[in-house]
Amino acid sequence: MPEFAIVIPTFNERGNVRTITRAVASALEGMDFELIFVDDDSPDGTASEVLELSRTDPRVRLVHRIRRRGLSSAVIEGMMATNAPYVAVMDGDMQHDETVLPAMFRKLRRDGVDVVVGTRHCAGGSMGEFPSERVKLSQWGRRLSALVCHADVSDPMSGFFAVRREYLEEVVRNLSCVGFKILVDLLASATRPVHVEEVGYVFRNRACGETKLDLQVGFEYLELLLDKLLGGWIPVRYALFGMVGAAGVVAQLALMRLLLFFGQVTFDTAQIISSLLVIGLNFAANNRITFRQRRLRGWSWLSGLAAFAVACSLGLYLNLRVADGLFGMGVQWPLASLAGILIASVWNYSMGAILVWRINRPRRWVPAVAVPVLPIEPMPLASQPDPGVVGS
Ligand code: GDD
Ligand code: MN
Repeated sequence: MPEFAIVIPTFNERGNVRTITRAVASALEGMDFELIFVDDDSPDGTASEVLELSRTDPRVRLVHRIRRRGLSSAVIEGMMATNAPYVAVMDGDMQHDETVLPAMFRKLRRDGVDVVVGTRHCAGGSMGEFPSERVKLSQWGRRLSALVCHADVSDPMSGFFAVRREYLEEVVRNLSCVGFKILVDLLASATRPVHVEEVGYVFRNRACGETKLDLQVGFEYLELLLDKLLGGWIPVRYALFGMVGAAGVVAQLALMRLLLFFGQVTFDTAQIISSLLVIGLNFAANNRITFRQRRLRGWSWLSGLAAFAVACSLGLYLNLRVADGLFGMGVQWPLASLAGILIASVWNYSMGAILVWRINRPRRWVPAVAVPVLPIEPMPLASQPDPGVVGS
């Protein structure tokens, strides 16, 4: 069993696989380690590159996930696939400085240390040439993470860290596994204060390939925070749906004001126009945020919009019936109205999930570049050690 493992999540990193393997091997010279690439069936054939490499270097291993996507979940599967007592995680694009790995492992082996974070915000660390917008985004993420983390860390947004196996076992069942920010997830999933140490490093530029960070990743971070804050009470997807709905109410009020003051239309016409526009806006926002994994495009987008509009009209009918009924029974108007809204939002959400975005249906998959199966030369018998004979 190797003492150290380095987990590297990859998606379309074919050009970086050999470079990073060489760099890590030279940084950990003389240490007993294994390197685990977790690839989500990258279309560029990253997995076959790793397999190829593992044929000549037994320290290299591949976890090849099919029909799966996600940085956090890939990292967790990689960490669970090793037996090593000390596990580090780093990106596969050379942005993290592999030469600080030995220092990270040294600190991790000290008594009572749970996690060692590679940080860009302490002595010896810096953001390198990171664009200023990304630095600002990272600062925001850092502030928000304080809401959920059980440790004071200078760089919780870092994807470069090492954990002790016992700590991983302790929190693994509480992990949310959403999005990019696995370190925040690990630190927020503990039920006790976490002992964290830090090691500075300079963030480098990507060696080759492209970043996978986009708007979606931002929403996933929001989802992670929501899950940590209220996951035990309300399903996160429903909370996102509710937030989109609440934003829709604000948008509708703004539209009403515009139409009534500048559009010279009657109240009823303004209400109808703004309702239709807001149903469209809600659909588009839910398509991008709440149900982004099942995002509809092209013709499916249009038919989805039609189905969503029908579902919401029925929801509105339910809303009116419930609110009206309760009000008639003597319930105060705010409560009656709220009950109507709540029932309608649960209805709209369920119809959206089941009929429009069909979250339980398997989706069609575009296969990646096929991994070539190379013939493996059998080892000559004479060079194989005989397990039955000891000391001969
Ligand atoms: N298996 C798998 N699946 N790997 C993925 C996926 C995925 O869906 N998405 C990204 N990766 C891999 C990439 O191939 C890369 O090795 C690593 O995860 C980081 O992805 P990048 O696309 O390079 O992200 P980044 O450079 O924008 O973000 C990095 O910096 C952040 C700090 O600002 C990451 O290290 C983040 O973890 C880090 O928080
Ligand atoms: Mn990167």
